[in-house]
Amino acid sequence: MTSARLAVAVAMCAIGSSLTAARQAPQSKTPERFGIGRAATPEEIAAWDIDVRPDGVGLPPGSGTPGDGTTIYAAKCSGCHGKTGREGPNDRLVGRLPNDTLVGGGPIERLDSVRTIKNFWPYSTTVFDYIRRAMPPDAPGSLKDNEVYALTAYLLYLNDLVSLDATVDATSLPKVKMPARDRFVPDPRGGPKSVPKK
Ligand code: HEC
Repeated sequence: MTSARLAVAVAMCAIGSSLTAARQAPQSKTPERFGIGRAATPEEIAAWDIDVRPDGVGLPPGSGTPGDGTTIYAAKCSGCHGKTGREGPNDRLVGRLPNDTLVGGGPIERLDSVRTIKNFWPYSTTVFDYIRRAMPPDAPGSLKDNEVYALTAYLLYLNDLVSLDATVDATSLPKVKMPARDRFVPDPRGGPKSVPKK
């Protein structure tokens, strides 16, 4: 969440509380401040403000290669996603068929196709964002940025989207075009540019 949105949320809570207070005690003057809570520190806001946008805005410094990701994946991910991301119990990381892409109409057109990163994710940057915020599920947020870059690189490599010697970082990752990119249309109400991010 951006700090702007946090401010709006806080403001809305404040309005809600004022209205409740006004209903309960119509005679008394509603105080401007209730004297509860405290302002979030810049560090606390930074810890939550980790979203990475499709265009790469929000990607942190650091980098990783598929080679770096291999060992991390084996230690922290393969138990649930299988040795190569194609096995169970959670087998959605890697496209299964050589033509498992959307280019030219692939198996994703079939309702029974498994939706994987390769055939369904429109943005490579989302792979980084998702792993950093959600994986592994028993310790989300525990991976260092370099580890997330390495895991992202490894999964893109397994999906034939980057080469084995690729270095994935804030500059190169947004340039990886996903096969499903053109299957998704921008929201006409406004994209990343409509909300400024520091
Ligand atoms: C304890 C089991 C477990 C471990 C360990 C684990 N995952 Fe997951 N992962 C899941 C589950 C379950 C889902 C599906 C979550 C959902 O759909 O809400 C998932 C989903 C994902 C997805 C999204 C797949 C998709 O197409 O929807 C990615 C990417 C991912 N995991 C990467 C990783 C990486 C990288 C690691 C290692 C750091 C990891 N996971 C470790 C269980 C695990």
